[in-house]
Amino acid sequence: MLGEHGVPPMILQPPLPPEYAARPEAELQARILAAKAQLGRRLVILGHHYQQDAVIAFADFTGDSLKLSQLAAQQTEAEYIVFCGVHFMAESADILTSDRQQVILPDLTAGCSMADMAHIDQVEAAWENLRRAIDGPLAPITYVNSSAAVKAFVGQHDGACCTSSNAKMVLDWALHGAEPGAPDDVGHKIVFLPDQHLGRNTAYALGWPLETMVVYDPYQPYGGVSPERLRAARFILWKGHCSVHALFKVPMAEALRAAPEPWTIIVHPECAWEVCQLADQVGSTEYIIKTVRAAPAGTYWAIGTELHLVNRLASTLPDRHIRSLASVQCLCSTMYRIDLKHLCWTLDNLVAGRVVNRIVVDEETKRWSHIALERMLALRPAQPVSAR
Ligand code: 13P
Ligand code: SF4
Repeated sequence: MLGEHGVPPMILQPPLPPEYAARPEAELQARILAAKAQLGRRLVILGHHYQQDAVIAFADFTGDSLKLSQLAAQQTEAEYIVFCGVHFMAESADILTSDRQQVILPDLTAGCSMADMAHIDQVEAAWENLRRAIDGPLAPITYVNSSAAVKAFVGQHDGACCTSSNAKMVLDWALHGAEPGAPDDVGHKIVFLPDQHLGRNTAYALGWPLETMVVYDPYQPYGGVSPERLRAARFILWKGHCSVHALFKVPMAEALRAAPEPWTIIVHPECAWEVCQLADQVGSTEYIIKTVRAAPAGTYWAIGTELHLVNRLASTLPDRHIRSLASVQCLCSTMYRIDLKHLCWTLDNLVAGRVVNRIVVDEETKRWSHIALERMLALRPAQPVSAR
């Protein structure tokens, strides 16, 4: 159900008890450590790379969206999975873990503006419109940065999820009608949700020209695209984006190209196509971290992704020159809502035998979204990805 102005309603976090605001950081840290020790193997804390340092310090595992989904699925022993990330990530963890396990998001307002750009009602309406216009095979693919309901829709319609690490592999799979080795010339079309940039960058990297892509705007009648253009396109890109990565602009990359230092520009594929074209390398958060860590001392790196990740790389690799590609602060404000106070409150409650902020996906949604995630996880990197 959409709220005012077509925006999904906000999930509200009750205010924390006042003592948490008053506690000094050192006390919060000590309480978190004590709670972790007390809960032992019953607890696992997962932390996305965009989390602030103070929180990452307590994560048992860190990673990008793909790695964290896989890690969540492997935590068969842990009773409580505290997810220091955003809402869609905690939902994915709940989908992939057993009913015995409880997934917790320390602050319920930690959502994702991109995921909110594709509400299930909009996706269902768009699908009906597309099915009226297009006769041939059509596969929905959703970036994991989407609600469980959208993932379930995709699972029910023979599609799959993808992450920024495996989007090429998943698109290749869908273009071949989910049959590895099948010809890709039978006209399989893809509806890519909700990030137009990841969709465009990935399809282009696979060798598809921009003319094969159209942008579907859920706020326009018929998506703002004529039936003829829908029929001619191979990729129907949902008009969604990440508000953080949208801040990286072409002039920033051009200014660094003109600078005297030999900057290597590495960006996340949620950045606009024009920015990715100017970059030397494009990859997921995990890819960016591995690449910069493997680089020799003295090298210059301008990174187009969230600021906490960039600052952490800069502080842990002081012998490399590392900066944000942007001249403005590119910070994911919803990730930032997970802080020591919320983590401490969550763990204190677990120690007291209370589960707060549990993320529960209903059974029917879980069944289909699980299928969409499993289709993605079943694809192995060893499988050849065709470039056209
Ligand atoms: P990855 O973790 O897949 O690189 O994605 C970044 C992101 O924006 C997560 O929301
Ligand atoms: Fe969503 Fe962008 Fe924040 Fe990732 S960085 S959680 S895509 S708003």
